[in-house]
Amino acid sequence: MKTLIAEAEKVRELAHTPYSNFKVGAALRTTSGKIFTGCNIENAAYPVTCCAERVAIFKAISSGETNFKEMAVIADTKRPVPPCGSCRQVMSEFFDPSMKVYLTNLSHDIKTVSV
Ligand code: THU
Repeated sequence: MKTLIAEAEKVRELAHTPYSNFKVGAALRTTSGKIFTGCNIENAAYPVTCCAERVAIFKAISSGETNFKEMAVIADTKRPVPPCGSCRQVMSEFFDPSMKVYLTNLSHDIKTVSV
């Protein structure tokens, strides 16, 4: 869990957020032990923006990985940040319902939830 959160924190710095200035990082571990990371990438056409979670999931899927073990999501918030509806929809299609998702912030308060 610690490594995954550290990876999410690191990739968060790469977020492209000129419109919201709200950086999010995500890290996804496959059952084979690989880690795929993602940050949010915004666009002036705002709905085209892709959240950190979906960037990580799509990187993994497009690399041929379809079995996932756990995911960490990090943002600079008081309370750990919950994924948006679109990300939850994608998670529900690719993750096992019991898969653990660690929601955390820069103070490393961790809320563990399942899909
Ligand atoms: N965002 C994420 O990347 N993940 C979340 O779980 C919540 C929201 C992004 C989308 C947008 O770039 C910014 O945060 C503000 O909503």
